[in-house]
Amino acid sequence: MNTLIKPQTRAPFAKKHLLQILDLNRLEALELIERAEGFLPYTSMKEKKLDFLAGRTLINLFFENSTRTQSSFELAGKRLGADVVNMAVKSSSVAKGETLLDTAATLNAMGPDLLVIRHKSSGAAQLLARKVSCSVINAGDGTHEHPSQAFLDSLTLKRTFGRIEGLKIAICGDILHSRVARSNIMLLNMLGAEVRLIAPPTLMPTDADKWGVKIYDNLLHGIEGVDVIMALRLQLERMSGSFLPSPREYFRYYGIDREKIRVAAPHVRVMHPGPMNRGIEIDSEIADDPRISLIVDQVQSGVAMRMAILEAMASFEGGEYA
Ligand code: CP
Repeated sequence: MNTLIKPQTRAPFAKKHLLQILDLNRLEALELIERAEGFLPYTSMKEKKLDFLAGRTLINLFFENSTRTQSSFELAGKRLGADVVNMAVKSSSVAKGETLLDTAATLNAMGPDLLVIRHKSSGAAQLLARKVSCSVINAGDGTHEHPSQAFLDSLTLKRTFGRIEGLKIAICGDILHSRVARSNIMLLNMLGAEVRLIAPPTLMPTDADKWGVKIYDNLLHGIEGVDVIMALRLQLERMSGSFLPSPREYFRYYGIDREKIRVAAPHVRVMHPGPMNRGIEIDSEIADDPRISLIVDQVQSGVAMRMAILEAMASFEGGEYA
């Protein structure tokens, strides 16, 4: 057990749930990132185990597939000393038609302290939070939000640039279906970055002009001079009808490659939340170049960020959402 940081040195966090970015204020968002910075050194130490959540129970409830988010919440919980249960949704009674609320009531009766949920329906995490007594963390709900991804992206930016305020950040691709884009837009705006959105008109939400961002349908115009390009996955599984002529055509105009990023700042860094469609939204030459790509750093930040989120939500002692 690593005993360098003591749980009692942390003040309780002001919020019980992490459902969407705008439930937090700027100071609370900065505090979460600062807490994650405190956990970062542990992710590369030999002895990674802490006892902040010893005796607490975390349930991971993933109704949609996940590699990064589920495994990093699991690792984060275990490294904090919690008992972690990954609900096997495919072999649970959900497969027999049990509703989300009945599943929630059943799990709630077992007394977990933290519930992490991913669901295909926007608003599922909010619904769950109203029905259970523990903290709920949204690990992605439909096309609504994926707040822990936005936080780990901001942590990655802070580690890379030493700041978030003033960075010019272009979010490119399938904005329409992207919960990652929504959470990042809210958080990056809150933290003082300049956010640009780039997408073909069919993949840009019609109300994006109300989000306090600059909007482009031309990739080269949108990434001119930017510090960071966040490429988004084309979410073909959420597309009904024809949003694009073809993936090849999409790559030609919107795929991030070495030639196109010449118009960005010379120090430009490229991010992608994963999973990637190589050769569609990003060229492998960029994704695998450690001088440009921050994709591995994002995954590393993910564990520390999720440790901070779990520890903060579990430390809540009352007040708002009580
Ligand atoms: N970025 C992200 O949410 O990845 P997973 O779907 O693998 O969790």
